[in-house]
Order: sequence, then structure tokens, then C-alpha cells
Amino acid sequence: MKKEILKLRDFKVYFPVKAGVFNRTVGHVMAVDGVDLDIYRGEVLGLAGESGCGKTTLGKAILRLVEPTNGKVTYVSKENDETELTSLEKKDMDPFRKKLQIVFQDPHSSLNPSFTIFGSLQDPLKKFGVNSKEERRKIIGDLLEAVNMRREYMDRYPHEFSGGQRQRIGIVRALCLDPELIVCDEAVSALDVSIQAQVLQLLMQLKKDNNLTYLFITHDLSVTEYLCDRIAVMYLGRIVELCDSEDLYKNTLHPYSEALISAIPVADLDKKTKRIVLEGDVPSPVNPPKGCPFHPRCPKAKDICKTEVPTLKKYSTNGNEHYASCHLIDLPEISK
Ligand SMILES: Nc1ncnc2c1ncn2[C@@H]1O[C@H](COP(=O)(O)OP(=O)(O)OP(=O)(O)O)[C@@H](O)[C@H]1O
Ligand SMILES: [Mg+2]
Repeated sequence: MKKEILKLRDFKVYFPVKAGVFNRTVGHVMAVDGVDLDIYRGEVLGLAGESGCGKTTLGKAILRLVEPTNGKVTYVSKENDETELTSLEKKDMDPFRKKLQIVFQDPHSSLNPSFTIFGSLQDPLKKFGVNSKEERRKIIGDLLEAVNMRREYMDRYPHEFSGGQRQRIGIVRALCLDPELIVCDEAVSALDVSIQAQVLQLLMQLKKDNNLTYLFITHDLSVTEYLCDRIAVMYLGRIVELCDSEDLYKNTLHPYSEALISAIPVADLDKKTKRIVLEGDVPSPVNPPKGCPFHPRCPKAKDICKTEVPTLKKYSTNGNEHYASCHLIDLPEISK
């Protein structure tokens, strides 16, 4: 039986756009625009989509590193107690920050260049009551070894490491407080393929050893296929498709996901289906197109797509729940 760890309802994050001498708000970047999503305990949920579609903002806003504009995030404990994180005072977020961690997209930004690794990583441990320095050194050293690095590395500075090593230090930072859920924001995207495979394997091993849940953010759908239990595809701040990982590739329902999947490089040329080239860039989240936000780039768009906004509806493929928001889906809708 699947149990939720986080529930997002009508979740929105808007950034004000300021202009003029008086610095007045002239519009909003609708980075996340009404997301409903359940994350289940123990799963790896992929969050995919092109650059700028709101993945990082969503991940950060769940942890209140960016303040959400609207909607709720509810945390469900192992004992089934529910806490609405979005209504907590910032200081009351601390116990939940311990349970919910993030590996940042840019590992530079999470490490202070003037501190050694131990210097940076010991602060959260101190904050949550690990008072003995010996104990803090042991926790950090053990975790460094768990990510295949030497414990002595804790006394080095961030610039002394390669990108892949820094990314692994980011993982150690996230693991320090023994969290329940980790938002992995493009945790491997900047790494070369062989190191990517190593770090992914490591993440999966750590998940098994520590009963973790991952929200795995990536723009690369070739990574998610074998890694994720379910995948949510985002476009312009909204989820346009959400289903079991296998179904996304085998029974794709949304033309946007179809285009993303067709762009995955395939080694076997015989297997390669025609690549769907998406024209143009992602439209501005300040002024999203009317109707279906994807219609100006959609190769299948019809008249209805220009005027009516599609909602995320529930279907069934291969016996599994499959959500998608497109007017052109030719399957019976299942009532929620
Ligand atoms: N602090 C901010 N102030 C204003 N706009 C922002 C801010 N952070 C993000 N945005 C805007 O919100 C939108 C979503 O950005 P976000 O970083 O969440 O995208 P992303 O999907 O993570 O992209 P990428 O794959 O490139 O990391 C973008 O249009 C971006 O310019
Ligand atoms: Mg991002």
C-alpha cells in the first residue's frame, strides 16, 4: 500500500517582475503554476522538463527555500501525522528541514569556498544537537566513505575537488541529518557519463540503505527511465503528464513528452524513431500562451487547443494510473 510523504495542492510560485524608476511590479513570472502532486514514501519520483519550466523552483519551494505564493504542502510522518508546511512560521520549519533535504543543481552554491568541507558541513549537525566535535567528524567521515571518498578530504577546501567530487560532497551534505526525502536537483547532469553512472548507482545504494525517498529533477529523460518509479513531466510551471516510468516511454499520452522522449539519443539506429523537433523556445512564463500552453509548439494542435486550457485528467494505461493534460487524448477518462 502506497503512503504519501508529501502532498502538494494547487501549489504556485510567482516571482514579481519589477520595472521603471519606482520599481513597480509590472507582472509575474509564473514559475510554478498550480501543481497537484503526491510523493509516496520510498519512491523515486522523476521531475522532467526543459530548462526554465520550473523544476528547481518547485523543489526549493517544497522546502520553503523559496516562498510559495499559493497552495499547500503537507508532510505526512511515518506515523501518519500530517503537518501543513506552508502554514508554519519559518523557525518552526527546522524539524522538517532535517527530514527534507536537497542536493543543489550547482554544487558551488552549497559550499562556502572559505570553509573546509568539515567547516561547512558541521553547522547543521551542531544545530540539531550533535555537540561533540569527535562525533561530528565521525558522521561526516563515515558519509564521505559511503560516497567513495577519503575521510581526510573533510579538511580540504571546495576548490580542491573536481566537479564530480563536489557533487558527491553535496550528497554527503544532504545525508548528514539522516533525512527521509532528498530533492536531487540535476544531481548528475553536469558530470561526464562514466561518473554519472557511478553517482547514480551510489544514490540508489544510499536510498536502499537509508529508506530514502527521492524527488529526482532532471531535464534528461534518458536518465530517468531506469531510475524512477514514476515520472512527472512539467511544462511552463504545470505538470502535463504523470505516470509510472515504464508507461511514460511505452504509452506516452502528451505530445510534449513524446517530443522529449524522441530527443533521447539511441545507440541502436534501427530502433530510433523519427525525432520530433520542437520549434522555438519555451514561451515566457510571464505571458504564457492562451489555451493549452504547449499549443504554439505542438505538432498536433487543433482549434480547441488555442482557446481552452486542458486540465490534468486521469486515464489508465497498462493497468496503471496515468495522468495527462491534453485535449487530443483518445482514451476514456477515469473518475478520480
Ligand atoms: N529568483 C527568481 N526571480 C525571478 N525569476 C526566477 C527566479 N528563479 C527562477 N525564476 C524564473 O522561473 C522560471 C523557472 O526557473 P527554474 O530555475 O525553476 O527552472 P528549471 O526548470 O529548474 O530550469 P533548468 O533546467 O535550466 O534548471 C524561469 O523562467 C526563471 O527565469
Ligand atoms: Mg533547475
